[in-house]
Amino acid sequence: MIDRIAAGEVVERPASALKELIENALDAGAANIAVRLSGGGIGLIEVTDDGCGMSPEEMRLALERHATSKLPNDSIDQVTSFGFRGEALPSIASVSHLTLESRERGADGWRIDVDHGQAAGEGPAALPPGTRVRIEDLFGKVPARRKFLRSSRGEYAACLDAVKRLAIARSDVAFALEHDGRRVLSLQPSSPPQRVAALLAAELERHGVGIDCVRDGLHLTGVVSLPTFNRGMADQQYLFVNSRPVKDRLLVGALRAAYRDLIARDRHPIAALFLEVPLEDVDVNVHPAKTEVRFRDPAAARGLIAGGIRVALDAESHRSAAREQAAAPVVWTTSEDAQDLGEIRVPQPNFAEVPAFAGATSYSVREQRPLFNTVPAEPAARAEPAVEPVPSFPLGVARGQVAATYIVAEAEDGLVIVDQHAAHERLVLERLRAGRSGGSVPRQDLLIPEIVELDEPDCDRLVGAAADLCGLGLEMERFGPTTMLVRSVPAALGSPDLRKLLTDLAAEIAELGSALSLQERLDHVEATIACHGSVRAGRVLSVAEMNALLREMERTPRSGQCNHGRPTWVKLAHGDIEKLFGRR
Ligand SMILES: Nc1ncnc2c1ncn2[C@@H]1O[C@H](COP(=O)(O)OP(=O)(O)O)[C@@H](O)[C@H]1O
Ligand SMILES: [Mg+2]
Repeated sequence: MIDRIAAGEVVERPASALKELIENALDAGAANIAVRLSGGGIGLIEVTDDGCGMSPEEMRLALERHATSKLPNDSIDQVTSFGFRGEALPSIASVSHLTLESRERGADGWRIDVDHGQAAGEGPAALPPGTRVRIEDLFGKVPARRKFLRSSRGEYAACLDAVKRLAIARSDVAFALEHDGRRVLSLQPSSPPQRVAALLAAELERHGVGIDCVRDGLHLTGVVSLPTFNRGMADQQYLFVNSRPVKDRLLVGALRAAYRDLIARDRHPIAALFLEVPLEDVDVNVHPAKTEVRFRDPAAARGLIAGGIRVALDAESHRSAAREQAAAPVVWTTSEDAQDLGEIRVPQPNFAEVPAFAGATSYSVREQRPLFNTVPAEPAARAEPAVEPVPSFPLGVARGQVAATYIVAEAEDGLVIVDQHAAHERLVLERLRAGRSGGSVPRQDLLIPEIVELDEPDCDRLVGAAADLCGLGLEMERFGPTTMLVRSVPAALGSPDLRKLLTDLAAEIAELGSALSLQERLDHVEATIACHGSVRAGRVLSVAEMNALLREMERTPRSGQCNHGRPTWVKLAHGDIEKLFGRR
């Protein structure tokens, strides 16, 4: 009964049993691990390794509760193995039919059968040196558990994830996985980056940023995706602490923080991150399934991840800005592609929201309207004659505006279209941020202070944040129970609709609560302010304004994407325009 209670914590589903078996094989020093599954692991889980093996005596002991060979000096804070609790084998054996076969080098093999906790015979076995564990009929006598299993498909997905996690953790070990007789994975020993690319996304080679940073005795390595190479689910984030795969809210939060305002809130980066921490600074004995850890100094771990990744992402955005002039691509270049490393760039519709006009080759004239009589009497877009030679600005020279929303510019190597609101919002945010890190945000005092009517709770919230907002250039004070008096606004804002700005800020402050650090709250608030201060879609711009915007974009880091991770500009190369007209 005690074993079955422990099994409730350790063996939740086939994938958790599989994880324990693979961990044991790794702890046994295996160089090759072969996994066979059927029916998503509900029918069969079999793990064969070429590790050190066990003597018959050790095998009997291994099936005893709390028997472990992995705590030398009885010191639980110096654990370097995956296992240390001695619970997995007896727990699994109590809820399945388990066959344990093992052979030490230079000895004969032995087999022990356990059926739902009852010894079911033992005897000699023929196998190469190493260990083979077979689990059948999992939860066969625990109907309550069995009911909670998903379809074999769902369980298989979880098993595959478990194998992937451990295969990424130990890229030096060969792994093979077979499901229902089909070979799914066959991984030779390789380097961590190769393993990550093989298992997560080959695209990370082009859309990934390598991480390698050290701080306070912590070492972080790995790869994360560019902000524009994102997913709708946070399912491709693999985190390891001292090679142990962990699911840790703190670390996931730190990853999120690194991407703040580079990516929409409902999009997620891909990441494989390896954190090396001195053994005494991390407690691994937090959870029976060993998927959580506790840090002695959580802030240091969080800071290294959030800070290290952010620095790497920023460095990448500078590099891309310098390289926009690369050889003419075959398709629409978007500012998001310009972030990557330089081969021919094909937008990845599966991962990021790419513009609808992703492929020039699929261009078609959809509407067959008469050509001339649809032209409105008043042109909606103004054109600048292309007489002067085009100076070599990466984003070109403004030629006009379309739908009062998009700037059309001519660059040396093609046609550039800019989303004026997305681009300007980014510029304002970067300006605010530069001002803040420089110690002062330029502010503009209002000649006549403006009175803004709001809800009383909103006023309370703004008063509570008044000091922080003042640091951002927004100075205000209480004027009455439901009124605020605004004295100055950040100069980057121009003349925003103050009532709307204050309402949104109050909502933002309410939503953020005190869960985030001051720094993080300021980041959010800044983004809200930036949105209010930027040129709306629909505003007609002069040619000088458009060119000023283009030049500022070229100067500003991270200007290739808006605060929500969408591209701010796209480019069609000359060669591609020629293709559209059948000239090539
Ligand atoms: N594949 C294996 N090869 C060699 N020894 C193993 C293997 N699997 C389990 N063992 C032995 O059985 C013991 C119990 O395993 P387990 O119940 O998973 O507990 P833990 O891994 O926490 O020690 C291990 O400590 C180890 O000595
Ligand atoms: Mg174990």
